[in-house]
Amino acid sequence: MKVTVIGAGNVGATVADVIAQREAANEVVVVDIKENFAEGKALDIWQTAPIRMSDTRVKGVTNDYAATANSDIIVITSGLPRKPGMSRDDLISTNANIVKSVTEQAVKYSPNAIIIIVSNPLDVMTYAAFLAAKLPRTKVFGMAGILDTARYRAFLASELDVSPKDIQALLMGGHGDTMVPLPRYTTVAGIPVTQLISKEKLDAIVERTKTGGGEIVKLLGTSAWYAPGEAAAQMVEAIAKDQKRIFPVCAMLDGEYGLHGIAVGVPVKLGKNGIEQIIEIEMNAEERAMLDASAKAVKEVMNVLDNMNLF
Ligand code: LAC
Repeated sequence: MKVTVIGAGNVGATVADVIAQREAANEVVVVDIKENFAEGKALDIWQTAPIRMSDTRVKGVTNDYAATANSDIIVITSGLPRKPGMSRDDLISTNANIVKSVTEQAVKYSPNAIIIIVSNPLDVMTYAAFLAAKLPRTKVFGMAGILDTARYRAFLASELDVSPKDIQALLMGGHGDTMVPLPRYTTVAGIPVTQLISKEKLDAIVERTKTGGGEIVKLLGTSAWYAPGEAAAQMVEAIAKDQKRIFPVCAMLDGEYGLHGIAVGVPVKLGKNGIEQIIEIEMNAEERAMLDASAKAVKEVMNVLDNMNLF
């Protein structure tokens, strides 16, 4: 199992680090355009191996896509992160060009790879990579739902003073302020969360989740990386070990949920073939309206990409 991580910034380096820690692959190649940057990050990660008892080989290269040849999984983290005051959508023109270019170069050397997008604006960059890769939609998809759900679960764990391990939740829609956390599909060790928390407190947590990425940008002056990196690595592990895990993933829809040609977060089964199933859950009118509003917001940014005539 060989994994390529493109971009050795905070998120990319964390993805490589977590893959090595979990021994989710035998080999990780980290690529960056900045001279020696991926080499340095990868060497530091490799030097953790004897301490953490991992035998995942981690190597860094500067823009050398030949070194990524025959990867099974490619994680794309390249692009600018947000600065305070920026929305994820503000990044579109710069990051679309970057995502297109790195996807094309990577697919040339690894035509059978599964591609996971982490770059923002996430849903639209997933669409851009899907267009650039010219691979089936089961093999090109984005990481956002695990991260957004993790934020929601972490906030609930703090509020209820319980272990985050016991909080199960589902969240759908785009990776932005229109995302759709689903309290009806949230449980604490099987107990519906609505039995354990007041509506006001739950509503406040749902709102905080929607702006959870922005909360970190305000604190740090740049985007988060530990939770995004951990989330992408968890997807890699599910595919590499054929775990058939059920995660919210940004997938290109083709009729599911009545949506066509749009990249948006839905629950899927992840295994060695990538997306092995898209699960269509039952939604009430209110939940459905929120999903439609989120899909509409994503579609507007997809239209901006279409109007750039990159593809
Ligand atoms: C976040 C960025 C990475 O949500 O999209 O933290």
